[in-house]
Amino acid sequence: MKLQNKVALITGGTSGIGLETAKLFRAEGAKVIVTGTNPERLEAAEKALGGDVLVLPVDLRHPAEIERAVLEVSARFGRIDIVFANAGAATAAPLEAITPEQIDEQFSLNFKGLFFTIQKAAPAMPKGGNIVVTTSFLNTVGTPGLSILSATKAAVRSLVRSIGAELAPRGIRVNAVSPGPIATPFHGKLGLTVAQLSETAAAIEAKVPLQRFGEAVEIAKTALFLASDDSSFTTGAEFVVDGGLSQF
Ligand SMILES: NC(=O)c1ccc[n+]([C@@H]2O[C@H](COP(=O)([O-])OP(=O)(O)OC[C@H]3O[C@@H](n4cnc5c(N)ncnc54)[C@H](OP(=O)(O)O)[C@@H]3O)[C@@H](O)[C@H]2O)c1
Repeated sequence: MKLQNKVALITGGTSGIGLETAKLFRAEGAKVIVTGTNPERLEAAEKALGGDVLVLPVDLRHPAEIERAVLEVSARFGRIDIVFANAGAATAAPLEAITPEQIDEQFSLNFKGLFFTIQKAAPAMPKGGNIVVTTSFLNTVGTPGLSILSATKAAVRSLVRSIGAELAPRGIRVNAVSPGPIATPFHGKLGLTVAQLSETAAAIEAKVPLQRFGEAVEIAKTALFLASDDSSFTTGAEFVVDGGLSQF
């Protein structure tokens, strides 16, 4: 077991990549806490993960909610060994249609929510702690309609280096996993019509050198590598898991 008795907080752990990672971390011996906002998905995650996983409603757009959750986890488990700051969402829109509200909304969750998760959790993390964040292949590939999502992820990529440098003297590592297109409910929440979605999916698939969408579990396995001692000399790095999309 790679995470025996480790306390692991996973944001966006009620769906897709976060949910698969929660299952894997639990199977590797971790005490797992997952967060999300949607009541049905919170309930379904509780059922899927089993009774020993703590499921908390936390809207990451509100730092006070993050603080409350971290206090609850610290009070219950005494520390937080692993943070998988993974929650994210986006609205697709072309340049001319993007509003100030859409920019605020996406940065509020994908960047500020992730930042304050790390800021609030870090004091509860002992030496040897690990922070893993989810960025995206969009960091390095320009994609029409996804400019703001891509910018939030590029900002997060930068943060991994800065916070990694700040926390290294405390023995806490900070790394990113950068997924390519992964088969999760994420795409259905972009605000595209069904026709636009299938057209976009086909276009993306045609571009991926390995010729398929990735599976959430393939990201979970990389998150496990980064959260465990298997990557003990790695910090500030971003591991790309995108079927070659951003490499060739
Ligand atoms: N799927 C892909 O192709 C892909 C590619 C590159 C990067 N990523 C990144 O991977 C991460 C996980 O995405 P996914 O594909 O697993 O998507 P997903 O299945 O839609 O899961 C997103 C998670 O984020 C949570 N979330 C959304 N808004 C939230 C909020 N305001 N506060 C707290 N939690 C919130 C969701 O919970 P609720 O629904 O309960 O709010 C859900 O648990 C995201 O950061 C995404 O940008 C995904």
